[in-house]
Amino acid sequence: MVAPGREGDAAPLIEMRGIERTYVMGDNLVRALRGVDLTLERGSSVAIMGTSGSGKSTMMNIMGCLDQPTKGSYLLNGKDVARLSRSQLADVRGRMIGFVFQSFNLLSRTTALENVEMPLLYQGISSRERHRRAKVALEKVGLVGREDHHPNQLSGGQQQRVAIARALVGDAPIIMADEPTGNLDSRTSYEVMAILQGLVDQGKTVILVTHEADIAAYASRIITLRDGLIIDDRQQTPVSATAALAAIPPAHAAASAGVAP
Ligand SMILES: Nc1ncnc2c1ncn2[C@@H]1O[C@H](COP(=O)(O)OP(=O)(O)OP(=O)(O)O)[C@@H](O)[C@H]1O
Ligand SMILES: [Mg+2]
Repeated sequence: MVAPGREGDAAPLIEMRGIERTYVMGDNLVRALRGVDLTLERGSSVAIMGTSGSGKSTMMNIMGCLDQPTKGSYLLNGKDVARLSRSQLADVRGRMIGFVFQSFNLLSRTTALENVEMPLLYQGISSRERHRRAKVALEKVGLVGREDHHPNQLSGGQQQRVAIARALVGDAPIIMADEPTGNLDSRTSYEVMAILQGLVDQGKTVILVTHEADIAAYASRIITLRDGLIIDDRQQTPVSATAALAAIPPAHAAASAGVAP
């Protein structure tokens, strides 16, 4: 048993208080986040919305331990991560968070399987075990038989699924995705969202940044930022991406290919 407020399952997964992030640009200060409070429980899905420049990526970077706040406290799994050293932060990131990016960020001269193995490389795991785990992760995203393909031998949706498998392979409890459907047609977007919803059903916490209201509809909570502050925070019953997928007739799917949802 872990006492409340201590590291472990009793504490909220994410607890941010008064988070500020100020960038210094010559003589100017850019206040990208101006006092953000956020509590997030395990197994939820959150969409972060807001206009360009409102602070979404800045917030995601801090939540994902890629960057640190200028001011405020950030407890991740009950542990204060706001003032850690770079290497401590990298360690927390490796254990706690898997990332999915809009542009997939796959290594082009490397197979799907090797791309997925990448996060395990520096963890002292044998190559046989790395292969095994990467295969399991590719199976979870429906890519059996594509292990040896290079990214340019895969469709956009398949590349994004490789990126999701890579985010899953370390078994981190949090998956963060910045515009994960930004480069995909509508049918493929639904497929990616169905995979992300499946992860939430398995107890993962999914945090995504999106400009698109119909993608945010798949999350159970929507947070809206404006000028570095949360101006709206609402719970909702998520739309089922699997149901949305089933409702698209194949002809319509073909007609909408290449068009953002
Ligand atoms: N490294 C940086 N140095 C200086 N200013 C920055 C830096 N990164 C972001 N900013 C500024 O901070 C503010 C918030 O930027 P951020 O990237 O978080 O916005 P965003 O909501 O993700 O926008 P978009 O939807 O366009 O991706 C913007 O005014 C931006 O110009
Ligand atoms: Mg951004």
